[in-house]
Order: sequence, then C-alpha cells, then structure tokens
Amino acid sequence: MPEKNQAALDFLLTRRSRPAKTLTTPVPSREELVPILTAGARTPDHGKLEPWRFIVLERGALERLAGEVMARGAARGEAPDRIEKVYRQFADSHLTVAVVSAPKPSEKVPEIEQVYSAGAVCLSLLNAALAAGWGANWLSGWACHDPEFLAVALGISADESVAGFIHIGTETVAPPERPRPDIDTITTWVSA
Ligand SMILES: Cc1cc2nc3c(=O)[nH]c(=O)nc-3n(C[C@H](O)[C@H](O)[C@H](O)COP(=O)(O)O)c2cc1C
Repeated sequence: MPEKNQAALDFLLTRRSRPAKTLTTPVPSREELVPILTAGARTPDHGKLEPWRFIVLERGALERLAGEVMARGAARGEAPDRIEKVYRQFADSHLTVAVVSAPKPSEKVPEIEQVYSAGAVCLSLLNAALAAGWGANWLSGWACHDPEFLAVALGISADESVAGFIHIGTETVAPPERPRPDIDTITTWVSA
C-alpha cells in the first residue's frame, strides 16, 4: 500500500484563496517568504530550464506601481472603474510576488510547456503561502498583460510575461466556499 500523507491531502482538498481585497498586515518577512518561494519553485519543469523568476514587490514598490497604473490606464484609454480596480490591487496590497514567465530557447521543450510550468509555479506559490497560514490570491488584471506597463514598472523584457500576481497577507474574513467542479462531468474514464 502506498503511504498516505493525510495532512497534505486534507490541505489540497480544502484549500481556497482569500480575496486580495480582504488581506491586511502583517505580511511574511523576507525570512518567512523564502521557504514559500522555495516551495513555489519546486515545480515540474521539462528540461530543467527554470523558465520563470520571481519579483517580490514590497510596500514601496506597490505604491509606485499603483501610481504607474493610473498613468498607464489613462494612456490606454481604460474606463475609470477598470483603472481603479487595478490601482486598488496594488495600492491596497502589502506584499505581492510577480511570477514572471521567462521561456528559454529550446529545441526540445515547446514554449507552451514552459508557460504551463510558470502557471504551475503560481499555484505552488499560492498553496505554499496558504499552507504557511497566510491569506493569498492569484490575480492578473489588464496591467498583467500590458507589455509596456510591465517593461516600465517591472523591467519585464519583451520575451517575458507575468503569469500572475500572487498577493499575500493576513486574512480578515474567511470567504464562503464556492461551488467546485463536478468530477463526473469533467472526467472521462478510458479503460480500453
Ligand atoms: C491566471 C489567473 C488569473 C486570475 N485573475 C484574476 C483577477 O484578475 N481578478 C479576480 O477577481 N480573480 C482572478 N483570478 C481568480 C482568483 O485567483 C480566484 O481567487 C480563484 O479562482 C479562487 O480559487 P480557489 O478558491 O480555488 O483558490 C485569476 C485566476 C487565475 C488562474
């Protein structure tokens, strides 16, 4: 019989994000964040290319980004409510990790597999933060997909992108559980 890790299974069967707008201080210290980043980077990676990296955004950087969202949102012609939403994402956060997808040239590993790996890093990082007792949330928003914003605000190069912003903090309210997929509906069993 395989040896079961019941605590890990229980965590995976009950884990859920905590909405970023409900997170507050304290946030993990640098020392506390390192094992969370380490777990995030412990992720399947075809060819061991490490096609991702982290940018840890602390309070001062998040305030700067919020200001840059206002300027870039206006330049893009975004509606005020869409600017405000992304502004709040950074202005209200005290710690955010940008997971950068940075595909490497490879004859063996298609770029899409490297991007999938960056998405897997996001979930691993999110789960590690939750498992460490923090509230955490994976968000994107228009700024996440705006190469000009990313270049100016974060120094992201043209061949990189942001797979997600993982906001981490202390939860203030437990969100209600949301409906989960029906496994029978999404699963096909093939036996021959
Ligand atoms: C790539 C990606 C981007 C997302 N971006 C947003 C976003 O910008 N705004 C939002 O409200 N939710 C966004 N979500 C959804 C949140 O992460 C949401 O909290 C999550 O689906 C809750 O799932 P969980 O409870 O299973 O962790 C995104 C999810 C993914 C996978």
